[in-house]
Amino acid sequence: HLPAPFTVPLPVPPVLKPVRSDGAADHYEITQRAAAVEILPGLQTEIWGYDGRFPGPTIESRRGRRTVVTHRNTLAVPTVVHLHGGKTPAEHDGYPTDVIRPGGAAKEYVYPLDQPAATLWYHDHRMDFTGPQVYRGLAGFHLVRDDEEEALPLPKGEREIPLLIGDRAFAADGSLRYPALDPALRDRPGVEEAYRDGVLGDVILVNGAPWPRMAVSAARYRLRFLNGSNARRYRLALDPPPPSGPAFVQIGSDAGLLPAPAGHARIDIAPAERFDVVVDFSAYPVGTKVRLANEFGEGNLSHVMRFDVVRKAADDSRVPSRLVAAEPVSRRDAVANRKFLFGRGVGGHGEHRQAMWTVNGKPFDTRRADARVRLGTTEVWRIIADVHHPVHLHLAHFQILSRNGRGPRATDRGWKDTIDLGGSEVAEILVRFTGYRGRYVMHCHNLEHEDMMMMSNFDVV
Ligand code: C2O
Ligand code: CU
Repeated sequence: HLPAPFTVPLPVPPVLKPVRSDGAADHYEITQRAAAVEILPGLQTEIWGYDGRFPGPTIESRRGRRTVVTHRNTLAVPTVVHLHGGKTPAEHDGYPTDVIRPGGAAKEYVYPLDQPAATLWYHDHRMDFTGPQVYRGLAGFHLVRDDEEEALPLPKGEREIPLLIGDRAFAADGSLRYPALDPALRDRPGVEEAYRDGVLGDVILVNGAPWPRMAVSAARYRLRFLNGSNARRYRLALDPPPPSGPAFVQIGSDAGLLPAPAGHARIDIAPAERFDVVVDFSAYPVGTKVRLANEFGEGNLSHVMRFDVVRKAADDSRVPSRLVAAEPVSRRDAVANRKFLFGRGVGGHGEHRQAMWTVNGKPFDTRRADARVRLGTTEVWRIIADVHHPVHLHLAHFQILSRNGRGPRATDRGWKDTIDLGGSEVAEILVRFTGYRGRYVMHCHNLEHEDMMMMSNFDVV
């Protein structure tokens, strides 16, 4: 029942229109609901989607313009919405226990979005159940735009495409297969023993379609990659690589544009990371089929999607050598140093004692903050991983200073909100706590690790 790769056209999620705009804000409404959709040709799959879609509709905001999104939850379980990468006041940030009750309750999320143009995304964040709820479809793009970006001659319009990459497994009847201990997702969190390292699927979806293909002109395209997978990492490459020049010209990272573009032959992307890149398809003769490959995968897992260069076209876009002003930050600005170890541990008491994923040996507890940081200050955090963990901080953006005592990776530059940490790796990040006071979380974005307690609070005071 699986389609041959590169037979299904690439869908692009629609951009949501505000229900109303006034001098102060743009107002949006989203209904979280179950829907039957065709993902595998000829089969119906029940998803849980924002407005019944996977990915949800794309929201586009202007920097500094308040965006108010009212989410109505018509699902059978509680939900929480987090705007990943957003600088959001704590009461609107989607704290894991700050739920929208099932059966029709609504919550208004207010996003000031006083932050540079960037590829953000919104997704479910319910305590203990984020993995299964995102897996069922609760994820979408939220793009921030600003004047600085708009003044750049980057590809736009139909040559600017957000690509949410996520793997899933399906049963023979087309239903999504997630190994939850409680399939109703009511009380008992967790996944079957064999999936404690993370749930992987054997089908790679891009914008909800299996190994899709897209016809492109021989021109530059801006692709916004988002790894929306629960646990899978990808090594993205183009096959064939362009005869000249780098495959990907990176223009942005998680939290916004880079000061200058950076060329890469391949990009490792961990869950929740974003890479904003320009690919120049004019480097290929018309008729070339360019596979977006995953060099970490074998067989069908080595394919992500395909771009078919079908026509010549005029192109007045380019990638300037300067993109945005660099904000100078230095390790000398740091007022504190902290250390966080992401590793295996145990939690619970008595007969409930069991293996879990922990931060500094402790499972998540909503009542305990593991750091108190001052608003407006900068700190150096050393993050240590036992096995691979993509570590994400809410609210605060950071720059990667080092890995294992050496310099960062070529793909580490720019402001980030998620770091792809390999096994036995130690990284130093320079974190800037701007925005708002309150209690925020940081956690592993392998969603099964997150649901198994690999999360910690920090208080901004
Ligand atoms: Cu993308 Cu706390 O999450
Ligand atoms: Cu992890």
